[in-house]
Amino acid sequence: MSDTLAVTDLSAGYGERRVIDDLTIEIPQGELTVIIGPNGCGKSTLLRSLARLIKPFEGSVVLGGKDIATIPSRELARRVGLLPQSSIAPEGITVIDLVTRGRHPHQGAFRRWTREDETAVREALRRTRLEDLSTRVVDELSGGQRQRVWIAMALAQQTPLLLLDEPTTYLDISHQIDVLDLCTSLQREGRTLVAVLHDLNQAARYATHVIALAEGRLIAQGKPADVVTSDLLREVFDVGARVIEDPETGGPLIVPHAPAVA
Ligand SMILES: Nc1ncnc2c1ncn2[C@@H]1O[C@H](COP(=O)(O)OP(=O)(O)O)[C@@H](O)[C@H]1O
Ligand SMILES: [Mg+2]
Repeated sequence: MSDTLAVTDLSAGYGERRVIDDLTIEIPQGELTVIIGPNGCGKSTLLRSLARLIKPFEGSVVLGGKDIATIPSRELARRVGLLPQSSIAPEGITVIDLVTRGRHPHQGAFRRWTREDETAVREALRRTRLEDLSTRVVDELSGGQRQRVWIAMALAQQTPLLLLDEPTTYLDISHQIDVLDLCTSLQREGRTLVAVLHDLNQAARYATHVIALAEGRLIAQGKPADVVTSDLLREVFDVGARVIEDPETGGPLIVPHAPAVA
């Protein structure tokens, strides 16, 4: 089954308000796509549309040749996982219980717990380095630890397609790198990932495909080196910067201009 997501002429928003405007993009299968764009440009709205949390005003989202509007909910939940930008855990729930909820789409009517469920939860806790916190109450964790719990829940869902809305926000640099390396490993294992990132240098380094949005419209898409340019930074973020060669990877590295001293 193909996990390519094709977005065609998509317009979406809230009430009367159009946030995504006539957007046509493809999320290539097996790649790590990073969405960049200023605050409020519609990145989260796009991810919500891809996960069918909101219905398009116009246009379509097609997963593996089928309009997601026609895919049964349980099937969609087994194929597409979403880590929302912010989530509130049920009061008093433990880490392991929350991560276990990621298995619900896989369980039958009687919610029988299988060895496969057990393995998926253990694996999700291991890959997010949460084993030692598994019996702790989620409310009592730090913001960064909580973020890793939500990532673990999305991982436990074991969907071939994973949408991550700002997965590194609230994390210190070491855990940011952990999460981004995890994204790369998942991609190399054959999953399709889409992540919203604010750190453009991380986007340039980890993405295999970049989508740049501004005001709900597509500005550019393609390989990081083709998208992350000083012209694009000026156009999308109104930032003056040099883009030089990353001494570690040879890819693009953004160096904002120093402020002019009066
Ligand atoms: N639930 C909502 N109801 C109404 N407006 C919303 C809602 N969520 C987001 N918006 C508005 O839609 C616009 C795009 O938001 P969002 O997709 O969250 O942007 P981004 O993730 O790029 O920062 C913003 O102007 C925001 O205020
Ligand atoms: Mg957002």
